[in-house]
Amino acid sequence: MRISVIGCGYLGAVHAASMARLGHQVVGIDTDAAKVDSLARGEAPFYEPGLPELLRETLSTGRLIFTTEIAAAGDAQVHFLCVGTPQKRGEYAADLRYVDAAVDALLPHLAPGSLVAGKSTVPVGTARRLAALVAEAEPDAMLAWNPEFLREGYAVKDTLHPDRLVYGVPDGAGSDAGLRAEALLDEVYAGPLAEHTPKVVTDYTTAELVKVAANSFLATKISFINAMAELCEATGADVTQLADAIGHDARIGRKFLNAGLGFGGGCLPKDIRAFMARAGELGVDQALAFLRQVDAINMRRRVRMVDLAREVCGGSIVDRNVAVLGAAFKPDSDDIRDSPALNVAAQMQLQGAHVLVTDPAAMANAEKAWPDLSYAPTAQAAAAGADVVLLLTEWQEYRDLDPTAFGQVVAGKRIIDGRNVLDPAAWRAAGWTYRALGRP
Ligand code: UGA
Repeated sequence: MRISVIGCGYLGAVHAASMARLGHQVVGIDTDAAKVDSLARGEAPFYEPGLPELLRETLSTGRLIFTTEIAAAGDAQVHFLCVGTPQKRGEYAADLRYVDAAVDALLPHLAPGSLVAGKSTVPVGTARRLAALVAEAEPDAMLAWNPEFLREGYAVKDTLHPDRLVYGVPDGAGSDAGLRAEALLDEVYAGPLAEHTPKVVTDYTTAELVKVAANSFLATKISFINAMAELCEATGADVTQLADAIGHDARIGRKFLNAGLGFGGGCLPKDIRAFMARAGELGVDQALAFLRQVDAINMRRRVRMVDLAREVCGGSIVDRNVAVLGAAFKPDSDDIRDSPALNVAAQMQLQGAHVLVTDPAAMANAEKAWPDLSYAPTAQAAAAGADVVLLLTEWQEYRDLDPTAFGQVVAGKRIIDGRNVLDPAAWRAAGWTYRALGRP
């Protein structure tokens, strides 16, 4: 099929390359010329395992091109909207300016019979509004909402082999228009469908809600276990054993029950807030009042981390040397949006500590966004002379640190495991004071 992908950030770049990999003819479009140039050279403008290889492979087939020209979308049968929907400044609601701008730009180029498929995470009701604009511009074009569930760090795999496909189609499943939209999307996703990927065909609003409901559930799971961590801290219990034990119940499951510094990134935090804002507009804010607690529990973990560091340093962090391992919001990503690690680093610096931050992939982004923090190229360099080491993003190379060798570089062998990934016994045996969130 001929496909356009509008917006080539974390979502769109991976989607464009993956669609080409599935055999389609794809044009990726973005207003950022530097990003387009980099993608066209086969260089991913952000860190995503497997994406550079996929870009080079698909570019060399001639099936994938990148451009800043929206007119290049004119030939496509399906247009994927992959632009960002960040949190509005000073408000909980989502900022839809990029979605609106993308649709405005695309409308004059819509061909009869084409389908606009929204992938961005949007407030419920957006698809219906955009469908009216599409119908006005080209009565024979359609809109569908096809939310994306990829995780950064696994984006290529999640796109090529998704765990489910959700289509929100015009007039709902089974209607004439709905069946036409479904047939087009089935052709796009013929590869994953042949692998028996479950497919849910529904109306616009359900499809929009599926996405925010999924992210809200994930955020709730993380905050639930972090609330248990607070209880463990008050009682001397161990939250990692608690998570293992409740996780054996298949109804609960062990995934997303890793207690620690909590969730960040460009999705979970802003999605739960936008969902609360939208519920308020719909007059059902009470239904999502619990998400306020989910958010509050999550933010409290960052404060607790600073307090724990102070405790470990004997009551004050003023003039103390602090090594922060990790700047990305999670490992295998260079994304620093709402990064818990950088939030903690900045709080500690503001409170008088000398903080050195390191990260295997996110340093350039961190330095740009947080120029007042100081950075070191490696964990060893960050920890040289440190009074306390904070492991805040669980990159494999930090999990693999040898406590004996690492103990040689620091001034004081104190470590706080913000992600509960180190072996406390091994670190204590090497002479370290080991502390963690939610563990004795
Ligand atoms: C999340 C969802 O997992 C994806 O399904 C969704 O498509 C995506 O948002 C999106 O809306 O685009 P992502 O933001 O890449 O994906 O990150 P996650 O893997 O969900 O992790 C989010 C945060 O939760 C990270 O800061 C991570 O460290 C934290 N986390 C995760 C925990 O603190 N504990 C856990 O057990 C799991």
